[in-house]
Amino acid sequence: MSDKAKITFGEKTCELPVILGTEEERAFDISKLRGDTGLITLDIGFKNTGSTQSKITFLDGEKGILRYRGYSIEDLAEKSTFLEVAHLLIHGELPSAKVFEDFSKDITTHTLIHEDMKRFYEAYPSKAHPMGILASMVSAMSTFYPGSQDPNREAESINRTIIRLLAKIPTISAWAYKNSVGHPVVYPRNSYSYVQNFVNMMFSLPTEDYEPDPLVVDALDKLLILHADHEQNCSAAAVRIAGSSRCNLYSAISTGVTALWGPLHGGANQAVIEMLDAIHADGGGPDKWIEKAKDKDDEFRLMGFGHRVYKNFDPRAKIIKKACDGVLSALGVTDPVLDIARHLEEVALRDDYFIERNLYPNVDFYSGIIYRALGIPTDMFTVMFALGRLPGWIAQWKEMIENKEPIGRPRQIYTGAPHRPYVPLSKR
Ligand code: SDX
Repeated sequence: MSDKAKITFGEKTCELPVILGTEEERAFDISKLRGDTGLITLDIGFKNTGSTQSKITFLDGEKGILRYRGYSIEDLAEKSTFLEVAHLLIHGELPSAKVFEDFSKDITTHTLIHEDMKRFYEAYPSKAHPMGILASMVSAMSTFYPGSQDPNREAESINRTIIRLLAKIPTISAWAYKNSVGHPVVYPRNSYSYVQNFVNMMFSLPTEDYEPDPLVVDALDKLLILHADHEQNCSAAAVRIAGSSRCNLYSAISTGVTALWGPLHGGANQAVIEMLDAIHADGGGPDKWIEKAKDKDDEFRLMGFGHRVYKNFDPRAKIIKKACDGVLSALGVTDPVLDIARHLEEVALRDDYFIERNLYPNVDFYSGIIYRALGIPTDMFTVMFALGRLPGWIAQWKEMIENKEPIGRPRQIYTGAPHRPYVPLSKR
């Protein structure tokens, strides 16, 4: 197959090199296009446009494949731990026992947030959405660590910022939840593992002895692995383009939190549960809602369905769906919306509208059911997504910086008013 593409426009012809990926994906590099032909490309939503070459995550949307640094998501979800996957994504390799011990210890000893940051929580309204708190607290971290401003500083300073983010964001997140329910915050404990610490900060109370349930810890650890990265999704692209201005890493990650919040992206997990609860309240029948989702005049969408890349089952949805039963029965929890979700999926996947558009359940369709069974409140679901995606965002930012990629600055086609003279107010 040719290693060049040719574009002819009028009298001009431009030969463009074809880039070949590890799994035989192909792209033609248009870096010279405008210079050779005067043309730019237009691809609203970047549905056909690659923004970078990356070694972090591989997706095959047709085959439903997801790999982090070459390891399949099925293997990692079953055999690894979230912190180990975080190291893999950020540093490119599964850590040796010694490296992992140092990495974990480094994180454990940075879990406290500056006591001055605690005062921020007194200022937020008690019903503040925890994603709004998370985005602002992560950005505020840059004010407490002025030395982290320059992302081109020596590796040690960058690594310390990475450790601080991984260590402190679970604390910030759990304290946002405690703020919302008016409970006293719970400090991290060095004797706990990463996810155990988060569960303890979320659910323990000064009025009783509490030990995080190992089943809850294991289920959350798996969910965090499944959310850890997903190549150039909306929020990862936001982190990369924000970071390309060479702002500090805290600010770039805060951009990712903000982008993830949208209901078309990470906010979908909260929207799915709200949708399933509405269907349950409405009597539970899926048919009316399937019709609403198909109706172009109705803005309702089947939340948790569809994906820009997966035109087959999202492999993460398969794993979460399978885990649903195990987690709910082990916790002795029944949730009527699980049957509604299953029935909705069954009816949708038999319907031509969904089949023709390759709309399958995505990672958000079942995740909320498990989060709820674990005691996580609905408006914390997207915070859980952010906790999982944090190492992926960091890995994407780090790769962009290490590759010295230029500032991201897309072009446009202008379709506004042609040149026109100014008309003074008295004459308008
Ligand atoms: C995540 O990119 C990632 O990797 C994201 C993510 C990650 O890990 O980072 O995987 C996480 O964000 C998962 C997606 C969560 N969002 C939702 O579940 C929201 C519901 N889904 C849709 O809004 C939609 O499917 C998107 C946003 C996920 C994808 O949108 P696209 O690729 O822009 O597709 P589209 O909106 O152009 O839809 C194509 C067609 C349209 O119909 P036609 O105009 O062709 O007639 O499919 C229809 C859409 O109306 N469609 C849906 C639908 N999703 C798409 N119709 C009903 N219900 C839906 N859920």
